[in-house]
Amino acid sequence: MQIFDSIDSLQTWLKEIQKADKSIGFVPTMGALHEGHITLVNQSNQDNDITVCSVFVNPTQFNNPEDLDKYPRDIKKDLKLLEAANCDVVFLPTVAAMYPDGEKSEDFEFGGLENQMEGKYRPGHFDGVATIVSRFFDIVKPTKAYFGEKDFQQLRIIQELVKQKDYHIQIIPMPIARERSGLALSSRNTRLTPTYKEAAPEIFRILNLIKDWKNDFSVNQTIIKVEEEFLKTPFELEYILICDELSLEPISNWDQSENIRAFIAAYAGDVRLIDNLKIK
Ligand code: PAJ
Repeated sequence: MQIFDSIDSLQTWLKEIQKADKSIGFVPTMGALHEGHITLVNQSNQDNDITVCSVFVNPTQFNNPEDLDKYPRDIKKDLKLLEAANCDVVFLPTVAAMYPDGEKSEDFEFGGLENQMEGKYRPGHFDGVATIVSRFFDIVKPTKAYFGEKDFQQLRIIQELVKQKDYHIQIIPMPIARERSGLALSSRNTRLTPTYKEAAPEIFRILNLIKDWKNDFSVNQTIIKVEEEFLKTPFELEYILICDELSLEPISNWDQSENIRAFIAAYAGDVRLIDNLKIK
C-alpha cells in the first residue's frame, strides 16, 4: 500500500496509472474508519484497477469547533484496516496543503438541496464538503467515486456538484452498513456512552416504524408519532423529515412522490447521530 502526504508525490504516482489507462476508484473519508468505510473500499477494488482512499478531517465542514476538536482520529488503526482491505493508495494531506489560501470554503448553490436537514442545522457544512471534495476530484481525477447513503444529502449534493462542474466521474452510492442491532456504523459511535450505545438501535427501529405507519397515518401524523416515540428514548430529536429522494423537499402526502426517504438527526448527549431509511 502506497502512502502519500503531499499532492505532488501522489500526482506523480497517479500519472503513470493514468498513462496506462487504468481506472481509478476514489473513497474520500475523514478517518476513524469502520466497516462502513471498508464496504466502499471493497466496492472500489471490485470496480477499478486502483483504489485511492483519502483520510483528511476537513476543518471547513465543521460549523462547531468543538465537534472538530472531538472528532475521533486513529490513523494507525485506519492504515491497518486499509491495508487489510487491499487499498492501493492512501492520501493523507495536511490542512495547509489542501487550504493554501487559508481555511475557507468556496460558495456553492445546489438548487435547494443544501437548504434542509444538515444544511439547515449545520450552516456552511456543505460548502465545506463541496470545497474539499472538488479539490480531491481535481487532484485524484478518479474514474468512479464512492459515497455512502448514510450521508444521503451529501451524496445528492456531490451528484449535483459533478453535474455543475462537469466532472467526468461516476458517483457510486453505497448502502448504509449497520451493526446487527441496526445502529448505522459511524465514526462518532466510538464517543457514545454505554447508556446511549445500548439505546442507539432505537433510531433505526423508529425509522422502520414509519414504513408501517404510512399505511394508516398521514405524513404529519407520522411525524408526530416519531416525535412521541423519541420522547421514550434518551435521545434528543433534532429533526425528522420525510422527503422526496431527488429534490430532498419534505412531502406532505404519501402519494406526492414515488421515492420517499425518512431522515433523522438526534443527539446522544453531545454526540450527534444521523440516519435515514427508504420508505417508498
Ligand atoms: P466520513 O464521515 O468519514 O465518511 C466517508 C464516506 O463513508 C462517506 O461517503 C460516508 O457516507 C460513508 N459512510 C460512513 N458511514 C457509513 C455507513 N455506515 N455505511 C455506508 N457508508 C458510510 O463523509 C465524509 O467523511 C466527509 O464529508 C467527506 C466526504 C470525506 C468530505 O470531507
